[in-house]
Amino acid sequence: MNLQTLRDRVSEGMGEAQSADSEATIEAVRIKYLGRKGLMPQVMKELKTVAPDERAEVGQLANSFKNELSALLDSRRASLAPGADESGAAPFDVSLPGRWLRRGTRHPISSVIEEAVAIFGRMGFTVAEGPDVETGYHNFEALNTPPYHPSLDRKDTFWLDDGRLLRTQTSPVQIRMMESRQPPVRIVTPGRCYRRDTTDATHSANFHQIEGLYVDRDVSLSDLKGTLAYFAREMMGPDVAVRFRPHFFPFTEPSVECDFSCHVCGGSGCRVCKGSGWIEIAGAGMVDPRVFERVGYDPEIISGYAFGMGIERIAMIRYAIPDIRLLYENDMRFLRQFA
Ligand code: DAH
Repeated sequence: MNLQTLRDRVSEGMGEAQSADSEATIEAVRIKYLGRKGLMPQVMKELKTVAPDERAEVGQLANSFKNELSALLDSRRASLAPGADESGAAPFDVSLPGRWLRRGTRHPISSVIEEAVAIFGRMGFTVAEGPDVETGYHNFEALNTPPYHPSLDRKDTFWLDDGRLLRTQTSPVQIRMMESRQPPVRIVTPGRCYRRDTTDATHSANFHQIEGLYVDRDVSLSDLKGTLAYFAREMMGPDVAVRFRPHFFPFTEPSVECDFSCHVCGGSGCRVCKGSGWIEIAGAGMVDPRVFERVGYDPEIISGYAFGMGIERIAMIRYAIPDIRLLYENDMRFLRQFA
């Protein structure tokens, strides 16, 4: 077969393949050109009889025809399949199993916040929020914090150039709430706080607190104790013990620190509680009369309690997380463990 004849047969074959529009015609074209008794084996067999100066070209043309024709036939076949579009693009196979998106999990910090809000919600607390960027007035002064208090130090607080700061605690939200409404006030405020701490296993420059404030007539320290004890049992389980120690905060008087018995050792002493059997959870106290005066409440008529606690601390105890940094690294292997 000479070169010209082959060229003609090739364009004929490509044309037939192009217009083949059923399984049967496609298959017929394949057999005619590529089958065992088709054109291709014949060309190959006759190659040695081709004039020497055409031989190489005939061989090359035959080879490329073989590849191009079978590719064209494949795509014609694909274009007949259900779901294929007009361009003949490969269809998708509707019988393949779908691709499943992995369902996400709640971050332990979010879980603890949600649960704390729900627990306090059962006691009549509603959620209030305030800005992360605070005024020095709300974060310190209105909370009766004297200018020489260490937390005002440049090295302990993130100050902005305009004199504002990243709040070091959720307590300023107490002030904002009391400024904007009259008693009774019963709120919890979860949120981010910031301190210039060097990060280690128990410190993070960015962390979360949940603050509580209840202001009304005749609120007493025993109300505070009952509230935190109920919270402890709901959050940690019925066996948790709660103790209160005298403490100092500028914005409460008297002030207490509230500890929960260590859930790991049950109070006998272990590494988590550093041998004491107790874990420090919250700062709390009766709202200082000076704070009431700042927001225009009459401390002779009004009384109230406040508390604030670290969310990470609770999450770490609850889920036995040994290092606070795990909560911030976005490592899916860690986060997927929490439902
Ligand atoms: N804001 C305090 C802190 O970050 C915690 C605190 C103590 C909050 C006593 C309160 C409170 O509301 O009454 O250490």
